[in-house]
Amino acid sequence: MTEFVRVEREAGLLTLCLSRPDKKNALTRAMYSAMSEALLAADADSSVRAVLLTGGAECFTSGNDVADFLQAPPTSLDSPVFAFMRALFELKKPIVAAVAGPAVGIGTTLLLHCDLVYVSRDAKLKMPFVSLGLCPEFGSSLILPRLLGHAKAAELLLLGEAFTGAQAAEWGIANAALEDGPATLAKAREMALRFSQLPPSAVEVSKRLMQAPGREELRRVIIEEGELFGQRLRTPEAIEALSAFMQRRKADFSKFG
Ligand code: COA
Repeated sequence: MTEFVRVEREAGLLTLCLSRPDKKNALTRAMYSAMSEALLAADADSSVRAVLLTGGAECFTSGNDVADFLQAPPTSLDSPVFAFMRALFELKKPIVAAVAGPAVGIGTTLLLHCDLVYVSRDAKLKMPFVSLGLCPEFGSSLILPRLLGHAKAAELLLLGEAFTGAQAAEWGIANAALEDGPATLAKAREMALRFSQLPPSAVEVSKRLMQAPGREELRRVIIEEGELFGQRLRTPEAIEALSAFMQRRKADFSKFG
């Protein structure tokens, strides 16, 4: 367990709150493991009707911990980051996300696997995989071009352009953009608690039906992306980009042909 993921219960709602503010909720292996365990336990516990995932009113997450990626890059699809992706992808219960402040990397792509997403209007979402020498993950290379068209998805995934919560709502990545962090948390909690009033197996079977079309293809893409991502973490391009972030300098890709 880790103190950086707080797990709270309220009626039928299980809340996972990322709580590592000094590192902008960057996700360590221990945090991924804590989240996976909580998601698996939620599915096994009939009193849990929905899960709420948040980073609080100021910051969702700055994505994978960059120091972790440099020191201990995931070696297989059983690594904590991939186990977390699998647990979220396979979750049977509904999951709601509340996003305020930065949502970087997996902080954005995991939203594509939540059932309901509420964002603060000025949340800053970003998928800087390519500038980090990496490649899209968690199905984003399949989902985003389909949702947004290739051209818009290329801006987000190839150029790594940031976008706001308001844009995420406009484009259908989020349900609604709220005025600030506290309003976002309140709205997400209110909507997540609604599941406690609904018949749970009808919710579960309906979620499964909604996910069914294209599910095998998506599962295959997530694995393919994960394998490439793991390989890319060991490339000189990625090591230069990740080291530059940690050293607070601009990455220099001029030597790569
Ligand atoms: N991994 C490890 N440490 C991280 C981190 C990450 N993903 N994101 C932020 N941090 C650390 C910073 O190194 C800094 O640590 P320090 O105080 O010990 O120097 C601290 O968190 C605060 O970050 P800082 O960049 O100073 O905050 P900011 O408000 O200026 O910017 C972000 C916040 C989230 C916009 C910025 O940190 C960022 O872009 N991080 C993205 C990292 C990334 O590329 N993630 C994707 C990985 S696939």
